[in-house]
Amino acid sequence: MCGIIGYTGAKDPVAVAVEGLRRLEYRGYDSAGIALADKGGLRTWKKSGKLANLEAALDGREAAEGDVRSAIGHTRWATHGVPSDRNAHPHASQDGRIALIHNGIIENFSQLRSELAAQGTAFASDTDSEVAAQLLAAEYAEDGDLAAAMRRVCKRLEGSFTFLAQAADHPGLIVGARRNSPLVAGIGEGEYFLASDVAAFISHTTEAIELGQDQVVSISPAGLTVTSLDGEEVEGKRYSVDWDITAAEKDGYDTFMMKEIHQQPSVVADTLRGRIDDNGHITLDEVRLSEQDFRDIDKVFIVACGTSYHAGLVTKYALEHWTRLPCEVELASEFRYRDPVLDRSTLVIAISQSGETMDTLMALRHARTQKARVLSISNTVGSTIPRESDAVLYTRAGIEVSVASTKAFLTQLAACYLVALHIAQMRGVMYADEVADVVASLTAMPDKIQEVLDGSDQITELAAQMATSHRVLFIGRHVGYPVALEGALKLKEIAYIEAEGFAAGELKHGPISLIETGTPVIAMVPSPAGRSLLHDKMISNMQEVKARGARLIAIAEEGDDVTAAHADHTIYVPKSPTLLAPLLTTVPLQRLAVEYAGALGNDIDQPRNLAKSVTVE
Ligand code: F6R
Repeated sequence: MCGIIGYTGAKDPVAVAVEGLRRLEYRGYDSAGIALADKGGLRTWKKSGKLANLEAALDGREAAEGDVRSAIGHTRWATHGVPSDRNAHPHASQDGRIALIHNGIIENFSQLRSELAAQGTAFASDTDSEVAAQLLAAEYAEDGDLAAAMRRVCKRLEGSFTFLAQAADHPGLIVGARRNSPLVAGIGEGEYFLASDVAAFISHTTEAIELGQDQVVSISPAGLTVTSLDGEEVEGKRYSVDWDITAAEKDGYDTFMMKEIHQQPSVVADTLRGRIDDNGHITLDEVRLSEQDFRDIDKVFIVACGTSYHAGLVTKYALEHWTRLPCEVELASEFRYRDPVLDRSTLVIAISQSGETMDTLMALRHARTQKARVLSISNTVGSTIPRESDAVLYTRAGIEVSVASTKAFLTQLAACYLVALHIAQMRGVMYADEVADVVASLTAMPDKIQEVLDGSDQITELAAQMATSHRVLFIGRHVGYPVALEGALKLKEIAYIEAEGFAAGELKHGPISLIETGTPVIAMVPSPAGRSLLHDKMISNMQEVKARGARLIAIAEEGDDVTAAHADHTIYVPKSPTLLAPLLTTVPLQRLAVEYAGALGNDIDQPRNLAKSVTVE
């Protein structure tokens, strides 16, 4: 889950690496480090804490002139060994000839470490990664071929990794390798990049090569070579990136999270674009499952983590209603350990923004071994989860920099609605006019999200008033329940306060005891349209908490005067069909979390202890 960047070419390699790390810092920020190879040798700088500490340490650094020089850089999210200078990457080998950075976990590291220690290797850190650096140095000493040495090392390792390594006697060369962890190459004019993510080099080139599982790549100003672990040359898949550099900047907002919340109308529209034809039919041509495949399904599992799991919970309501297929939603980390009943007629939908979440990847692999068909919903083209799925539907949220997910969630909902409607159409479950109505409402949602954003300034004041509370509860029914969970997660993540989401009817079975005088309770109120039973029940639940002294904040549909009479504060969202309402009702909760954390003075984009892409189980 760390971020890595490597550069070889005529530009100042340290400056390119630092810039790349800045764009990758969302992947982890416990420590950062850089190694520079030039005619002066191989030198490393590394510092615990955020990138600014490394930049201060680099002050006064002078790269030797010449065009044979390279740098590798790393921003860390600790797994083995506490965040500290000594555990920061790059790791140098004992003989000082090799520098290496690593993302992932080497599962057999303690056995390898004992083996190396018995041969007299002294370790300078507590990390699993240093084992790879020491092993690589030993292999390199054999024949002086860094790529061949890397191939031999990879064959001995178990687990997940992306490595970048340099050797003191080949300063223009960087060798990389990957297994179960992301690595992409960037191709410029006489310059090459290797990184966890294209964001790291997008200001220099938009031409990229996707690297496959168990591949080793060598870059130098003279070119790029990719091989399998057996040394056979392979051709990487080349593509052009259509994101521009401004996507990695804040566009005038104080935080990336705020910027990304405001991008939601356009990214939801992008996710729907081209996937609904003029007759209102869902056309998911890129989903490589046939009509027959969809007809053969008799049950659906959705697996995901965190916010993506909440998107799955919302999808269950829509999918079961529209397709009449039974659907279960599971935390990916629990799925394979309980031996779920899967077969060829099971569709497993894996939802992952990053496409690299290890828990979700492992759930997907388990499903495939049981012959289930896997459809992934991801925001990251070419990432591992889509690559290992039978079919994929990409969300089009663009790079999500804020660690707390917002726009990815709304685009996941949009993509999941498309999939559910598609399945309903394929299986002939919904009548054409019914689909047409839902589709028309779905295409109107981006404008309605914009309306919610336009009316959300009142939340600043509300959050300032609430920011003295140490506990906030969220309650909802039906699709309002997963929205309550998502609202609570956002607040926990960035405001660091006790925030819990509950099914409103469940409150009286225990959690109501949490309510004290003034405890804020945020109620997701369903639409009152058609004198809805759900609405009436929610009003009763609101009265229950109010009677215990709660401060009640309602998220309700415009025109719902009944709710306003029971709440201390009501935030209105435009009317929408109940199943689509989460696209609107989530937005004030995202905004509330930002304002609340802002009032507490927290780091909103990089909350403590978290990382953007969780590539360990
Ligand atoms: C919360 C958040 C996380 C992710 C979760 C899954 O704001 O971002 O809960 O949703 O780690 O990540 P992906 O979707 O990349 O698999």
